Amino acid sequence: MTNDSNAMWGGRFAAGPDAIMEAINASIGFDKRLYAQDIAGSRAHAAMLAARGILTDSDAAAIREGLLTVLSEIEGGTFRFRTDLEDIHMNVEARLKELIGEPAGRLHTARSRNDQVATDFRLWVRDQCDAADAALVMLMRALLAQAEAGADWVMPGFTHLQVAQPVTWGHHMLAYVEMFARDRGRFSDARTRMNECPLGAAALAGTSFPIDRAATAEALGFDRPAANSLDAVSDRDFALEFLSAAAICAMHLSRMAEELVIWSSAQFRFVSLSDRFSTGSSIMPQKKNPDAAELIRAKIGRILGAQVALLTVMKGLPLAYSKDMQEDKEQVFDAADSLMLALAAMEGMVRDMTANVEVLETAAAAGFSTATDLADWLVRELDMAFRDAHHVTGTLVALAEKKGCDLAELPLEEMRSVHDGITQGVFDVLGVRNSVASRTSYGGTAPDQVRAQIARWKEKLR
Ligand code: ARG
Repeated sequence: MTNDSNAMWGGRFAAGPDAIMEAINASIGFDKRLYAQDIAGSRAHAAMLAARGILTDSDAAAIREGLLTVLSEIEGGTFRFRTDLEDIHMNVEARLKELIGEPAGRLHTARSRNDQVATDFRLWVRDQCDAADAALVMLMRALLAQAEAGADWVMPGFTHLQVAQPVTWGHHMLAYVEMFARDRGRFSDARTRMNECPLGAAALAGTSFPIDRAATAEALGFDRPAANSLDAVSDRDFALEFLSAAAICAMHLSRMAEELVIWSSAQFRFVSLSDRFSTGSSIMPQKKNPDAAELIRAKIGRILGAQVALLTVMKGLPLAYSKDMQEDKEQVFDAADSLMLALAAMEGMVRDMTANVEVLETAAAAGFSTATDLADWLVRELDMAFRDAHHVTGTLVALAEKKGCDLAELPLEEMRSVHDGITQGVFDVLGVRNSVASRTSYGGTAPDQVRAQIARWKEKLR
């Protein structure tokens, strides 16, 4: 080379890039995270080229060996990343050239960085789907342990954050198990759809070399090669689907975190969070703050932001590859890191938290939470229409409210002044324990239902 233009593509260039061009062009600062996927893809490609007689066996062997050396240099921290080499693909290839010489230049036969980056990134996102799945299983197990401990602990159930009806602690924990199970389903669906290999699509049109795309797809654990080379290099749906599943999962984590923030407040005292997941205040010595829960609650912001950012980058891009697509990675990296951290923190918090069982039960009885049980009793025992029973119960609630007592504390005579059919038997349904025990419909809050669901989940997660 007679000038300082790029050694990989500088043949037609008389001058090297401006410093600002280099700065805006380089992705190595972040795509170095794809090194393991890049090397795996290159090793599979080299083996396939040799099997098809496109490379000699000795060149392929030198390439595959050399790539392992590059891998150990990167993992050992001795690799020197160069921004003048734009990205991870060029950095790895340049180092391979230094290590093995001429055969390194043959690795890029029948391939382009376009199919290379699409392959690397897919492999990386696929790993994140697996990591999210494993973290979700851990979190679900922690929730199940809580549910099992408190299958029959009574607590207030809320609608509009107003006390509605008593529910069981186990039932509440299992509600989150259901949500996180759906999240697993979304990551799994996304993984299934993304598991097609772009490698061999080359720049956009495929290649004239007699490559074996099924072989590289199989070597890299893909189900099949992507069927359209234009689509293969220009598709980032897989990253968007991951972000979408991540955003919904982060929304679930945020809702749960919000409950932990409320529950751990002095006004509620439903749970005590462990010291391991709380912080103190530098000015107020009495404070114990649920910082981990608050940060989990906030992570949805970055994750949803990443999804919006990538959708916006992709919209309006003509086929096939455009450099805009280099802006896909940082957002996804950050979203994945945030999600994994939030999942791990939530698992730790759930494992460590202690429910204040007496506080929960006392709170469950407040706010006339068994009024529906009373109305149901009127329907069942006195054969009233539910609307009429609702009205009678409302009158009784107003009476109790005026007297400043609970429904169960109203004397029978006063109840009979509202409706003379009411008998002593009504008191059986006014206690919170009776209330939850009676809700035996499938999926209901009765401890027996909860235990059945716990058993089902434990079997599923075994
Ligand atoms: N650094 C690029 C990216 O991350 C790799 C693909 C570059 N391809 C190209 N034709 N310039 O998207």
